[in-house]
Amino acid sequence: MSTGPSLSSSHKPATAPPPPADSTFTRDELDLLCYEARIRRPEREKLPELQRAEQLRHVIFGGQFSLALLEGLAQTADKIRVLSKNRSGRDFLIQLLHHKRAMLYFTQPSTRTFLSFMAACQILGITCNEVRDPTTSSETKGETRFDSLRMFSSYFDLIIIRSKLAKLAESCAYLMNDLESTGNRSVPIINAGSGADEHPTQALLDIYTLQRTFQFADRQTSTASPRFAELQHSYPQLTKGLTNKVYGFCGDIGRGRTVRSLASLLGNYEGVTLIFIAPHDPTLTLREDLRTRLVERGVQIVEVESFDDVVQGTPVIELLDALYMTRIQKEHNAPGDDEKFAAIDLSRYKLTPQLVARMKTYAPILHPFPRDQHFGEIPPEIDDDPRAMYFRQARNGMWIRSALLASIFGVDHQIDQFFNDEYRERHHDDDRIIT
Ligand code: NCD
Repeated sequence: MSTGPSLSSSHKPATAPPPPADSTFTRDELDLLCYEARIRRPEREKLPELQRAEQLRHVIFGGQFSLALLEGLAQTADKIRVLSKNRSGRDFLIQLLHHKRAMLYFTQPSTRTFLSFMAACQILGITCNEVRDPTTSSETKGETRFDSLRMFSSYFDLIIIRSKLAKLAESCAYLMNDLESTGNRSVPIINAGSGADEHPTQALLDIYTLQRTFQFADRQTSTASPRFAELQHSYPQLTKGLTNKVYGFCGDIGRGRTVRSLASLLGNYEGVTLIFIAPHDPTLTLREDLRTRLVERGVQIVEVESFDDVVQGTPVIELLDALYMTRIQKEHNAPGDDEKFAAIDLSRYKLTPQLVARMKTYAPILHPFPRDQHFGEIPPEIDDDPRAMYFRQARNGMWIRSALLASIFGVDHQIDQFFNDEYRERHHDDDRIIT
């Protein structure tokens, strides 16, 4: 039975949620203990350590990205996308970082994030290497993760990490900073998914997809689409951009790291409301740490249990400007969770063509993928709907990750310059190039 919507900071789930991902260290995480005090600080205190001057150094969590940074990355990504369309642009891009090497240390399953990072590196000429199976590394001989990481930093100029350990990437960033301060070699760290905690680069591609969608521009000409005027007839409140919109997140909110990172990024935009649609279960519902952070930033939060719960007089499914679906993250199940979840009606967290028909006609449907064919949170019948954004979203990952790498290595200004000198004339748009 639905308990109806609950609004903002006053809402607390009936049962206390599990502690935030960083409040206890499992046996597997014991080697992170040396950074415990630094890990436990509030996010804002960590920010200076993750940048150099005004530039990103390490990418660890969504809270590092300001509005200006998000806008700048989207502009660079748009330019890379256009330059990649022809020979001279590709030749320019590929020489930018051809002297750099990246290690993709992905000890957790990954298809899109791994391949799109690799493709992003290739666009800029960065050579990639990978460790995906830790049993093939010296960790099986008793080497600590930190020794392994320090070794990677001897051979590579960037380390991209995906791990089931929530705070491994963050700890590695501190390790690199400590090495730097003692005059040793140190390289940037990018978090490509850390346990059930954060996945900041997925959130970047989600934001980039929303930025492009909410320009309501014609894809061919990049000029204002006549469709926008029509939409404004039906939705007089509709504006361009990400501000003043209602974003729905459905499914495993508690353990969806992409949800946590994206919610943080959306907190940058004025007038957003985030509606979390999840079972009333302490494992699956919004975690207290994220709720607190969002409320502190003035984000309006609503928590409901069903697409049909009524908020501001309207069923949630009809209110949303964008919907972010997620799968149930079974790999994080604790003992007893299988039985507990079997008693919940999870079918309410699946999208159906009937629900999609009730959505606003412009509202994009996103999913970080993979979708779970057995659970079926997005059935394939929806794929041909023009609002289904998930395949486009995945391709956007390659462009925005290229832009991120260009920014970390400080070649984004060269991209701007080349684009302006060589391409601006040919692409007569004033604001944003759509491809
Ligand atoms: C997500 C992840 O790994 O967190 N996938 C991705 O990186 N695109 C989402 C998921 O696995 O459910």
